[in-house]
Amino acid sequence: MPPPDPASFRAAMAGLPTGVTIVTANGPDGPAGATANAVSSLSIEPMMMLACLDRGSRTLLAVQAADSFGISVLHAGQEPIARTFATKAPVAEKWSGVPWSDRDGIPAIDDALIFIACDLRDVLAAGDHVIVTGEVRALEAHEGDPLVFHNGQYRPLSPSR
Ligand SMILES: Cc1cc2nc3c(=O)[nH]c(=O)nc-3n(C[C@H](O)[C@H](O)[C@H](O)COP(=O)(O)O)c2cc1C
Repeated sequence: MPPPDPASFRAAMAGLPTGVTIVTANGPDGPAGATANAVSSLSIEPMMMLACLDRGSRTLLAVQAADSFGISVLHAGQEPIARTFATKAPVAEKWSGVPWSDRDGIPAIDDALIFIACDLRDVLAAGDHVIVTGEVRALEAHEGDPLVFHNGQYRPLSPSR
């Protein structure tokens, strides 16, 4: 097999469909948030999540400062929110016009399919990203059609939409 290069690695992994989340934290300058699909459940006992954040992510700084973070799993109608939080717009600007609430000190996107509040546990350097793990402190889940990201495009999971 030929050795991979970053472009072919990126293109190959674009073929892995994922859900879309907003990772959030209440930083020193207020709420911060980033669109993230490198997010996973990690452990049941204790209940833990992980998120992989770019070293340059402002949300990563907020997570470390807050010692906690939230994960809002978006529904199919929340694509505009995913697009907004994937930008480098000034952090406060990202939140204007987005319905959100403070849940025990962690910003949560209103109406998300799932919201998970975590206490920060580990911060692990990994290449150009950092893996943050967190112990699940609170959880809220609703039924609905998730937003999916695949081959660079947002899509609903349900074919009827
Ligand atoms: C669908 C999608 C998934 C993304 N997943 C991640 C991710 O898992 N980790 C990450 O660091 N950035 C991810 N990004 C990029 C961040 O959203 C982007 O760099 C953002 O500007 C970071 O904002 P911040 O600097 O305010 O934290 C993703 C972008 C998109 C569009």
